[in-house]
Amino acid sequence: MNSSTRLLNIQNLTVEFSSKERQFQVVKNLNLKIYSGEFVALVGESGSGKTITSLSIMNLLPENAKKTGGTIDFAGKNKSIIFQEPMTSLNPLIKIGRQIQESGLCHGMTKQQALSQAEKLAKLTGLENTRRIFNCYPHELSGGMRQRAMIASALMTNPELLIADEPTTALDVSTQNKILSIFQNLKNEFNTSLLLITHDFTVVKKLCTRIYIMYKGEIVEEGPTTEVLQNPRHPYTKALINSIPDAKKRNTKLPVLFGDWQNE
Ligand SMILES: Nc1ncnc2c1ncn2[C@@H]1O[C@H](COP(=O)(O)OP(=O)(O)O)[C@@H](O)[C@H]1O
Ligand SMILES: [Mg+2]
Repeated sequence: MNSSTRLLNIQNLTVEFSSKERQFQVVKNLNLKIYSGEFVALVGESGSGKTITSLSIMNLLPENAKKTGGTIDFAGKNKSIIFQEPMTSLNPLIKIGRQIQESGLCHGMTKQQALSQAEKLAKLTGLENTRRIFNCYPHELSGGMRQRAMIASALMTNPELLIADEPTTALDVSTQNKILSIFQNLKNEFNTSLLLITHDFTVVKKLCTRIYIMYKGEIVEEGPTTEVLQNPRHPYTKALINSIPDAKKRNTKLPVLFGDWQNE
């Protein structure tokens, strides 16, 4: 697959939640594409629909959610997702080594192949002493190490597309930077495409060539990262960039916006 191949093509995706009382759309007519080898960011405030979009791509929507419109075409064989808090995705009762190897085994690898691939990927993600670490249960590792294990596990099937849903939010800054450099390595060593969901524009600038801005279930702006960040056109993007939380103001709330473009 070369870089002009459209790996993922989402057209007019609409997702609804329904309960007895009401139905509401959380993703509305969303269009998003990723080319082979491309790193793309999806940015938006909490509750804007980023996770639901990624779960739609993975076919992992919760039971009360339904895709009610649009199409998602994936031209690759495998895709993987990494979540914010690896503790929720790792099984607390199974040793790390087995969990990393698991998806390889499910995809037809022999035990030996799975073990050697798991060791290779663990090293790639910075888990050095694999013999010891593979023998640990998740709670015996630090948050950063668990996230590395999750990434190694996600890479076992050699996915063409990796979705990382706020992969570093739960980690301290120095661990965040180390995890991000793993993604950079991926770009250099494999031809994996990445959909990175994040709040952090510094990270977007470092890693992603294109960016989508999501607001209340809709993509309100998209384009090459440098263009969008230097010359944001949509009021929400401007507000988002103006409120970039610097180290001191990490918990700053985004300003509430009012305007015609809010279709509520
Ligand atoms: N399991 C669920 N049941 C009902 N509503 C949900 C569920 N998961 C998410 N939502 C709603 O869907 C919207 C989008 O959520 P989400 O995709 O998780 O946002 P984000 O990842 O951008 O923070 C939110 O309004 C959220 O409240
Ligand atoms: Mg989310």
